[in-house]
Amino acid sequence: MEKISNKNATVGVVGLGYVGLPLAVEVAKQGFNVYGFDVSEEKVNQLKDGNSYVMDVSDSTLQDIIDGSFVPTTDFSNIKHCDAISICVPTPLNKTKDPDVSFINAVVQELIQYMTKDTVVILESTTYPGTTEELIKNVIEEETDYKVGEDVFLCFSPERVDPGNPQFNTKNTPKVIGGVTPTCLEIGLRLYNSFLENLVPVSSTSVAEMVKLLENTFRSVNIGLVNELTVMCDRMDINVWEVIDAAATKPFGYMPFYPGPGIGGHCIPLDPMYLSWKAKMFNFYNRFIELASDVNGNMPRYVLQQVSDLLNENEKPIKNSNVLIVGLAYKKDIDDLRESPAVELFRLLEDKGANVTYHDPYVKSFKNRGEVLEPVSLDENTVSNSDIVVIATNHTDVDYQMVIDNAQIVYDTRNVTKKYNTGSNVVLLGGSKHDEEVRLLEQKFGLTPK
Ligand SMILES: NC(=O)c1ccc[n+]([C@@H]2O[C@H](COP(=O)([O-])OP(=O)(O)OC[C@H]3O[C@@H](n4cnc5c(N)ncnc54)[C@H](O)[C@@H]3O)[C@@H](O)[C@H]2O)c1
Repeated sequence: MEKISNKNATVGVVGLGYVGLPLAVEVAKQGFNVYGFDVSEEKVNQLKDGNSYVMDVSDSTLQDIIDGSFVPTTDFSNIKHCDAISICVPTPLNKTKDPDVSFINAVVQELIQYMTKDTVVILESTTYPGTTEELIKNVIEEETDYKVGEDVFLCFSPERVDPGNPQFNTKNTPKVIGGVTPTCLEIGLRLYNSFLENLVPVSSTSVAEMVKLLENTFRSVNIGLVNELTVMCDRMDINVWEVIDAAATKPFGYMPFYPGPGIGGHCIPLDPMYLSWKAKMFNFYNRFIELASDVNGNMPRYVLQQVSDLLNENEKPIKNSNVLIVGLAYKKDIDDLRESPAVELFRLLEDKGANVTYHDPYVKSFKNRGEVLEPVSLDENTVSNSDIVVIATNHTDVDYQMVIDNAQIVYDTRNVTKKYNTGSNVVLLGGSKHDEEVRLLEQKFGLTPK
């Protein structure tokens, strides 16, 4: 505690990805000495050269701390120099959609070899309730002479960072934290209080683990609901976007969620499955989770069907049609392709024999079935030579007016064309027409546009 207060503590961050790198940088900026551990030599070397591969960390911020307070390394024996360790390794699903906790287990094996007395360990990776006790506490107590809560201290604190969010970052996003014992929690709070703005203590590590899963299950279920309504609105010829915008004017009791070609990223498609997997051990079947996963998981296939129908109207089969996907990342203004529904759509279209290309200002290359593909430039030629342009992600830095003006058909899955002058060549996921007439009336009556 004294070392933390004096900022003499050395902090280790294990796993330098989207979560771990911004955390390590924030801790180093607050004056602590930080070791960043990763198994990837390539990433560590890149960091040592002052090059960040995470968009939320700029090269200049990294260069200010590298060779000083921040030491990236692949040498896990440096754990012995650390007073505190935050673990931010991946928690993916395996092929049968069960949790793959092998990354956490690998870190625990390093910990039990090198950790010293009084170390505080905080798991940040999203995982099922019980993980911190089952996979870390029990192993430490079985494999070393340390007792958790007396000799070493253990907490769970889920990472909530929203990559690319300009308003909320690692430092100012409230942080939930639970300890294995009250002393563990007190030490964890003391540590995180020295570099984060707002802490939310909870009574146990299981509560903290469950908080994260509730948050992401809430998103998955609500997106699933709106995606299902979208498919229904298509059938009923009602513009779902207009419905959502109007509903969102209710100042209480409603929160808008928007449709899209599916869900992506390392969190929303995966995290709820951690919970439903664990629940099955208690003979409990999470219907909401499974249903949302089913609805959201089928959206790329629904978009494929819509694309096929639109081409059909133009008397073209998908086979040998030129399809241009605009936006390949899983969400707006970031470069992350993990679980991206646009990538799945790309492959589904290829499987049907289409000639698929992509444009994405953030994705400079993309490994597709072993082949490295590069984006096409977005100009009048590439757009007009495509039989259909599918807007899969609504990046800001795209000339949508040019796309609309030159494309034969635009299929917009994100309603990004709403702000532009559109013609009959633009078709929306969830409603065939833009509410042009309403927009004119809004102007006429001086109303704030929805
Ligand atoms: N990406 C997000 O937006 C986000 C948000 C909140 C929570 N999370 C959670 O945070 C965790 C990390 O996610 P991420 O997006 O940072 O993943 P990531 O893949 O970007 O980074 C993980 C890093 O860990 C490294 N690694 C793998 N095995 C290791 C080991 N044994 N020792 C040391 N390093 C190892 C990898 O090389 C990689 O650099 C996951 O549990 C995820 O669910 C992610």
